[in-house]
Amino acid sequence: MEIPISLDPDNRQSLQAQLHAQVRALILGGRLHPGTPLPPSRALAQQLGVSRNTVMLAYQRLTAEGYLQSREALGTFVSNELPESCLMAMRSAAPAAVAGEALPTRRPIPFQGRAHAVAGARRLTWDFWLGRPDPHSFPFKLWRRLLNRALAGAGTHFTDYGDPAGLPALRHAIAEHLGPARGIAVDPEQIVVVGGCQEGLDLSARLLLREGDSVAIENPAYQGAAYLYESYRARLLPVNVDSGGLRVAELPEDGAALLYVTPSHQYPMGFTLSLERRLRLLDWAWRTGTYIVEDDYDSDFRYRGSPIPALMGLDTHGCVIYLGTFSKALGAGLRLGYLVVPRQLVAPARTAKALHDNGRPWLEQAVLAEFIASGAYANHLRRIRQLYVERRECLIDCLHEHFGAAQVTGSEGGMHLAWQLPPELPRASALQALAAEHGVGIYTLQSGAAHDFGGGPWHDQVVMLGFSSLGVKQIRTGIERLAAAVAAARSPAAPPLPAREPSVARRGQALRPRAL
Ligand SMILES: Cc1ncc(COP(=O)(O)O)c(C=O)c1O
Repeated sequence: MEIPISLDPDNRQSLQAQLHAQVRALILGGRLHPGTPLPPSRALAQQLGVSRNTVMLAYQRLTAEGYLQSREALGTFVSNELPESCLMAMRSAAPAAVAGEALPTRRPIPFQGRAHAVAGARRLTWDFWLGRPDPHSFPFKLWRRLLNRALAGAGTHFTDYGDPAGLPALRHAIAEHLGPARGIAVDPEQIVVVGGCQEGLDLSARLLLREGDSVAIENPAYQGAAYLYESYRARLLPVNVDSGGLRVAELPEDGAALLYVTPSHQYPMGFTLSLERRLRLLDWAWRTGTYIVEDDYDSDFRYRGSPIPALMGLDTHGCVIYLGTFSKALGAGLRLGYLVVPRQLVAPARTAKALHDNGRPWLEQAVLAEFIASGAYANHLRRIRQLYVERRECLIDCLHEHFGAAQVTGSEGGMHLAWQLPPELPRASALQALAAEHGVGIYTLQSGAAHDFGGGPWHDQVVMLGFSSLGVKQIRTGIERLAAAVAAARSPAAPPLPAREPSVARRGQALRPRAL
């Protein structure tokens, strides 16, 4: 271990005195903690280019003063218990370190971002959290084998920088997957491997946004996107969605710097953008010079109807940036996803990625590349699709059984559905609180990582339910408990449930989008 000390031979103080003072300052400043081992005198002498005697004498003095302790055969350590005199010196040496006091010389932090609901300790027993893959389905055995194989052939991959745009083998495997799966014919050069869609959103914002630029965005929208663009100080122009997806007719006539959409399975409502609207949207983007950011986060899961090709697969003018992720099919802990950019953005995207982090870690990329190329990914997808189909059906059946003709949207694909609450049930936020009291996690738009800009008919009327991480038994019990909780709250002895407010649309307010 090296410690940050530099001695000046031209200083009036002896080398030994300088060394003593600097080690003491490191201890008093809290940079060398009690119990920390100091370098052996020979090593420190070598590091500093001084005689070993100089170091030994400085150590002896610090030991005598109580700053250091020497332990037989183990070496020299910062004292576990600093004497009172040292502690007093410490307090007077660090007056600014009082908890909670900002340093007066610090500049304000220019970043302004809101935290969005990604993770956290969800401890509810029947938790319908969103977009979480089945934790038992991660292919651990095969992953371990591929990991070991990759390690055995690592060569210089750990010591060299890789391609900032991602491991070529992985980009190739992704390109091969995207053709049949999403109808996108792409050159691996157009792919940038990123740490999930979230980094892809950030990278595309870096490429396209200047402060004050306008960003058209679905209403309601994925919080991770809305808050990200807001943090870039963009002007957000919410565009409502309906059962056909984004209402393309409401897009601003003069375009925007970019448009964010989730066409396969609108987040949070789960609608699919119709083919007719896709074509009109592409036309609008081309006419107005707007880039479309297509977030295709959970399109691997389609249960009914044939999948509509991704917008990027239909785009002939290079207007679309496509975001894909492995968070849903494999797991969010991998932090791997990709950005597919039109040709004119290949060089800027690669540069922006290099400036950001010089690329993702090699090992996980290598394993994933082999996982896809070997066909294991396709098999894995087949397996979990089957599992999720059963869970989705079970959830819909349970909702119908306990709540009558439950109106759900988004069940054709993805890993969650949106339940539009009937008028006899309380508001979504009240229902969420009631469910939580009974160990059941259900989510309003806002707590489910969505942002409602207002003006639409959904406000506090929609509950989101993820079904992918719960077994059918848990789903059944969860919905049974929810129904029992509602019934108990309705019983004459129970305090009244909060009354349901009419939705904004029903109150007849203008459907005028409001910026964040
Ligand atoms: C719509 C949407 N986009 C992007 C993401 C982020 O995914 P990633 O883990 O790839 O950053 C999520 C996560 O749930 C999501 O729901």
